[in-house]
Amino acid sequence: MMSFNGGIQKIDLPKIFDERGNLSFIEASKHIPFNIERVYWIYDVPGGEVRGSHAFKETHEFIVALSGSFDLVLHDGVREHKFSLNRSYYGIYIPKLTWRRLENFSTNSLALVIASKGFSVDEYIRNFDQFKIAVR
Ligand code: TYD
Repeated sequence: MMSFNGGIQKIDLPKIFDERGNLSFIEASKHIPFNIERVYWIYDVPGGEVRGSHAFKETHEFIVALSGSFDLVLHDGVREHKFSLNRSYYGIYIPKLTWRRLENFSTNSLALVIASKGFSVDEYIRNFDQFKIAVR
């Protein structure tokens, strides 16, 4: 079982290296520190595009680069954290009330997002100043 501190966190996933091809997996109860309500993925991102640039009020997420690479730029209200995701055997846990932006997508990159809540427009904070107030 992973140790979990509640904040933004890189979580290593199992990797079964094999000459026939590698295998990794996610078990909800072992690797994801919330109940999974939704899974979505971002793909076919044209070069130079940016996704995200918002925070969620209550939704926690876990993001894995299943293919290719991209940068995950997070802000916890105090400081910025930047991760370059380029392997599929780890992910980043993003607690609620974290400003998040995905950028610098490589060709054919595939971002898997596991979320603790279903989709709701009311969950989004799309203004950085409002985010700073909410996170205080
Ligand atoms: P959005 O979260 O704004 O994309 P990003 O933050 O990556 O730029 O979502 C884009 C659109 O897709 C928006 O109209 C809402 C819709 N959407 C859903 O219907 N369900 C979902 O689970 C997600 C993530 C988005």
